[in-house]
Amino acid sequence: MFLAGHRGLVGSALLKALAAKGEYQVLTRTRQELDLTDETTVGCFLQNERPDWVILAAAKVGGIMANKSHPADFIATNLAIQQSAIMGAFRAGVPNFAFLSSSCVYPKITPQPIPETALLTGSLEPTNSAYAIAKLAGMELCNALSIQHGVNYFSVVPPNVYGPRDNFDPQGSHVLASLMRKFHEALPDGPVECWGTGTPRREFLPSDLLASGILHLMSLPRVSGHVNVGTGRSITIRELAETMQRITGHRGEIIWNTDFPDGFPEKTMDVLRMTELGWRAEFDFETSLREAYGWFCEHRAGARTS
Ligand SMILES: NC(=O)c1ccc[n+]([C@@H]2O[C@H](COP(=O)([O-])OP(=O)(O)OC[C@H]3O[C@@H](n4cnc5c(N)ncnc54)[C@H](OP(=O)(O)O)[C@@H]3O)[C@@H](O)[C@H]2O)c1
Repeated sequence: MFLAGHRGLVGSALLKALAAKGEYQVLTRTRQELDLTDETTVGCFLQNERPDWVILAAAKVGGIMANKSHPADFIATNLAIQQSAIMGAFRAGVPNFAFLSSSCVYPKITPQPIPETALLTGSLEPTNSAYAIAKLAGMELCNALSIQHGVNYFSVVPPNVYGPRDNFDPQGSHVLASLMRKFHEALPDGPVECWGTGTPRREFLPSDLLASGILHLMSLPRVSGHVNVGTGRSITIRELAETMQRITGHRGEIIWNTDFPDGFPEKTMDVLRMTELGWRAEFDFETSLREAYGWFCEHRAGARTS
């Protein structure tokens, strides 16, 4: 099996889970060893190795500000990575493929919780539409190859993910990692500025549970289309900030800067399909967040913070 993106937030959790399971011989390559945007080189690599599985956990990933300021980079890089990996795997005869998509592929305004059938039923959230369109293209390519050629190529749709090896760079991080860093670095009684109104609802899944969900899907004989792998529960960004405040011991004021966009008003996924497939995310959010904060404190010097 080839795990692409093994040094990232999701990929490193998958690497750990795959090692613990011990059923797969896992091939990995760093970006320096194999640039996944290079279709020819990736094609040759997959032809030579002929893995039985490819998991694509490599992508250009970022939070609301990175997506807003560099939309062309997000769509072009992700389309190139997906074209290389998905078509390279198919041409090399790889029978199974798990593609990491994201809940941002769903419409901005849609019934909550969001079922898999909500895909392409409305307009995307403009702040990350370039990234979402690349993800939609990858999902459609996997689906089309499965329909036309009978391969087992499917897409996993996670909510916001957090855990070890997250990105804490203020320019590129997602909301949870960004707040963790802000509260950690604030003076105990000083103010912390948070972006937006604090009212949007978001769903958060620890990376080790996402890896467990993906391994569960891989253990099934076949998966069609795309599957939401989440908790089905969400909290407001304000609740997230207050939880982060408790965890970090911060006692100062939280200031909401409404000059920054909120993004989706709510993103909570319907996890009925995954439940029916035999997997649920059981965990305590605050305990898991404390563990993630423990990792950040311990590894801060080596973490992605700039
Ligand atoms: N993070 C989330 O909250 C979240 C939520 C939903 C879905 N997802 C999806 O999960 C997947 C993984 O996300 P993540 O958060 O784990 O991202 P991440 O931490 O930024 O990791 C991405 C990985 O991709 C690698 N990569 C990027 N461009 C590459 C290239 N051209 N060639 C080779 N490797 C390349 C990176 O390598 P380097 O280590 O060399 O940079 C890194 O290891 C993505 O598809 C994302 O859409 C993530």
